[in-house]
Amino acid sequence: MSEKLLLRREIFKNILPWFYKRKRDLPWRRNPTPYSVWISEIMLQQTAVKAVVPYYLRWMKRFPSLSSLARSRERDILTLWEGLGYYSRARSVLKASRIIQKKYKGRIPDEYSTLSSLPGIGPYTASAILSIAYGEPCPVIDANVKRVIQRFLGFRSRDRKGEKSIRGFLEQVIPVKEPGSFNEALMELGQTVCLVESPLCHHCPLKKGCVCLRKNLQQVIPGRREKLVIKKKTTLLIFLHRKKIFLMPKEKGLFKGLWLIPGLPRNGNGSRGIESYIRREMGEAFSLSTRLPEQVHHYTKYQERLYPLVYYIKKPKQNPSGRWIPLKNQRRYPLPSVYRRILNDLCAFLDLYHGRK
Ligand code: ADE
Repeated sequence: MSEKLLLRREIFKNILPWFYKRKRDLPWRRNPTPYSVWISEIMLQQTAVKAVVPYYLRWMKRFPSLSSLARSRERDILTLWEGLGYYSRARSVLKASRIIQKKYKGRIPDEYSTLSSLPGIGPYTASAILSIAYGEPCPVIDANVKRVIQRFLGFRSRDRKGEKSIRGFLEQVIPVKEPGSFNEALMELGQTVCLVESPLCHHCPLKKGCVCLRKNLQQVIPGRREKLVIKKKTTLLIFLHRKKIFLMPKEKGLFKGLWLIPGLPRNGNGSRGIESYIRREMGEAFSLSTRLPEQVHHYTKYQERLYPLVYYIKKPKQNPSGRWIPLKNQRRYPLPSVYRRILNDLCAFLDLYHGRK
């Protein structure tokens, strides 16, 4: 082993004492089991720690064990997930739980290849379960860990080769004892100290060997990646009929398993295009009741601006693409959170103007 690597290994030993002293008290850290690590790590992908906490607590109350999850309905887990986004994560968790229940007698596998063969479990989640719950020395690499290591090594590359070298390096410094805490410590370091904008280098347990700090490159590494955002505008059509609302189930693609409010691209057809759509799809007699506040929805690559209009339909046509749902039951149907905000605005409007109760 080279002298440089030995020195770096020594420096990385500082990370565990730092973590034990500073670590945040998070509910999934109190009594980690393979099941709790799995659920928390899936929720933590693409979502901030603070936002995850209430979802995790609710989940564990509702589905305290893998078998209770495997028995549940997709709609129930999606309703619980509502607001966390990236709903395919929730559907995959359910599918994987059923496979584990059937094929592995309810025990979450402790082998990398078996774990990674399950729906929704990629290298990140498999390594997190193996290291945190089973004590295997598998490095976990998320965006925070990547930044910490890129800076420590003075490494600019963002390509796959870069990822390989980061993994190779971590495999050499991860301890056999407490590998899970080591991984969590690196994630925590990225979230609380090695910040993207203004890293708090003087509080860092790795400052002694950090190439970036020595060369003052914190603003250069890892470097910004320009994000291409596609912008869309959509008119949402909220149809009401006798205290019922028309919602459509999404059967594939983004938001699969959730329910949506029908919408049309806002492309300058104006009210004529909307009216002919309503006549064709919903029925002849309708009236525009109101506009609700516009909402913006951000997904990974899209930004969608939504303009909700509320229509009363007097005599609905048969429309097999959706379902009339009593307004009082709408909470049982999982919706993307932007649609939930719109329905909250709708209910406030109806309460205010019609005294709906
Ligand atoms: N982000 C993802 N997983 C985490 C964990 N276990 N601890 C802290 N931050 C995380």
